[in-house]
Amino acid sequence: MTSVLTRPELTPDRTPTRRHYVMCPPTYFAVEYAINPWMQPGIAVDRELALAQWDTLRRTYLELGHEVTVVDPVPGLPDMVYAANAATIVDGRVYGARFRYAERVPEAAAFRGSLPGTYCEPSFVNEGEGDLLVAGDVVLAGTGFRTDPRAHAEAARVLRRPVIGLELVDPRYYHLDTALAVLGDHDVAYLPEAFSPRSRGILAGRYPEALVASPVDAAVLGLNAVSDGAHVVLPAAATGLAAALRDRGYTPVGVDLSELLKGGGGPKCCTLEVRA
Ligand code: ARG
Repeated sequence: MTSVLTRPELTPDRTPTRRHYVMCPPTYFAVEYAINPWMQPGIAVDRELALAQWDTLRRTYLELGHEVTVVDPVPGLPDMVYAANAATIVDGRVYGARFRYAERVPEAAAFRGSLPGTYCEPSFVNEGEGDLLVAGDVVLAGTGFRTDPRAHAEAARVLRRPVIGLELVDPRYYHLDTALAVLGDHDVAYLPEAFSPRSRGILAGRYPEALVASPVDAAVLGLNAVSDGAHVVLPAAATGLAAALRDRGYTPVGVDLSELLKGGGGPKCCTLEVRA
């Protein structure tokens, strides 16, 4: 099928902007508890492989010209590798996380000292950029499994951006960043089936040209992607999504994070963006 976007004269020019990311190595990574359907407690995890895969992701960002701050991992906090959950940072304001499950609660404090900006302690459960995705001038905010909807209003106040609430309905896509990827200020990719009918309507109204992902690509966490406006770092297994991104003028960069998928995370989960 030839989409209109494959005609070169109509393919938009994508311009990357330099980003600053926070990451945390999977030094103590394990799957010891299950708080999402991807996690099978006790499953063997190859930590050395996890570290190597994570390091490839880190080096990919450096090669793309981005800055990466690495936070020290803490023993006993196996999910710290999913740094995206630690906060949401906009214009130097840090809206801290408050984790839903006891196992992850101490992570908020473990990251806090390494996050540049003015820290704001949250009153409501929110899992940082897992559920709060900055898209241009607005914040798309997930709820349904982790983030308390009351945190959406709090995030709007702290981050001084309009927040658009979206309800997730499929437990496999428990964080917004597993069901939707921000590609550019006004461009997203998402899996409609992961959202309530009302939220689907909001997304269709706001992003009529959005890239609609297939369930097959979503099932390898293909939407857990990181865009700099031109390059989109995503799970290598999401081949259909990579092709669709290329058609839209993006450069997909596939990475293999198979070990970290055992915890229910991909590239975006491992990446917290600092917006100074
Ligand atoms: N095991 C972690 C959890 O369930 C994975 C977090 C993935 N992070 C993300 N941004 N989606 O909380």
